[in-house]
Amino acid sequence: MNTAAMRVVQTVTEARDARRAIRGSVGLVPTMGYLHEGHLALVRRARRENDFVAVSIFVNPTQFGPNEDFAAYPRDMQRDLAMLESEGVGLVFTPGVEQMYPKGFDCAIEPGGITERLEGVVRPGHFRGVATIVAKLFHVIAPTRAYFGQKDAQQARVIQKMVADLDFDLDVVVVPTVREADGLAMSSRNVYLNPEERQAAVVLSKSLRLAEQRVNEGRRDAASIRGEMAGLIAREPLARIDYISIADAASLAELSEVRLPALVSLAVRIGKTRLIDNAVLSASQNGEGLPQVDQHDE
Ligand code: PAJ
Repeated sequence: MNTAAMRVVQTVTEARDARRAIRGSVGLVPTMGYLHEGHLALVRRARRENDFVAVSIFVNPTQFGPNEDFAAYPRDMQRDLAMLESEGVGLVFTPGVEQMYPKGFDCAIEPGGITERLEGVVRPGHFRGVATIVAKLFHVIAPTRAYFGQKDAQQARVIQKMVADLDFDLDVVVVPTVREADGLAMSSRNVYLNPEERQAAVVLSKSLRLAEQRVNEGRRDAASIRGEMAGLIAREPLARIDYISIADAASLAELSEVRLPALVSLAVRIGKTRLIDNAVLSASQNGEGLPQVDQHDE
């Protein structure tokens, strides 16, 4: 364990000063807080691979659409800080909105074609907000490595592309999705689900598992696999499909014939809560941690 005290700073100036005092490699984990085991998997990986770990907690208004849940987004700073302290984190950056977007702020990073699909279509401007805040955090913390979850697959690709295209001097590390025992991907938004909806939400990972089984059986017709996924989800009365996609894992271009590695991803509304999940289908692996139990309980 790290015995040095964890520092919590609120301003860009303090964060830069703290960064300058750090020797050795720095792993950065950007978050919006309300931390869970998914976030902690990123923190633990960062600890293993770096001399020092910095975490940011900032609910970024520019990545929320006008009708989205910015105001309602769950927050619990005291609990988050206690969790990070026990993980041996060295620095936590918790800026206010006026620190990151002072009066007159008027620049943005505009990610390209990769945002014209999936989440980018349903959430216009979302990835501009994500890329802009992440670029700012990269400039303030100047990390050696930055950690992102496969849970938000398109976000991880957008950041990888931004880092490559704009010559950021750091490595992007993508960490596998952490799931509840029944397969539901952990998410801060899962707290919105009532007990009935929580049960219904397992249909996302079940449908991913179904796609994985079909591909493992040798099926390659993306439309019919998507159709079977939609059929499974349609049997859950609380679920409404936003999209189901089977895409090239690198470009995210939609496939008619499945070529591996492929990204199967979906967004589903359970009641009023919009959930996303995905799995990488590759020749050699079985859906990165989707629980085997789903195979037998249909
Ligand atoms: P947030 O939703 O708090 O997620 C922070 C990081 O944790 C992201 O990289 C996300 O992919 C990862 N993560 C969330 N749930 C996970 C899970 N179940 N398993 C593994 N990783 C998981 O994503 C954001 O915040 C924001 O968009 C941010 C990048 C901080 C920019 O504002």
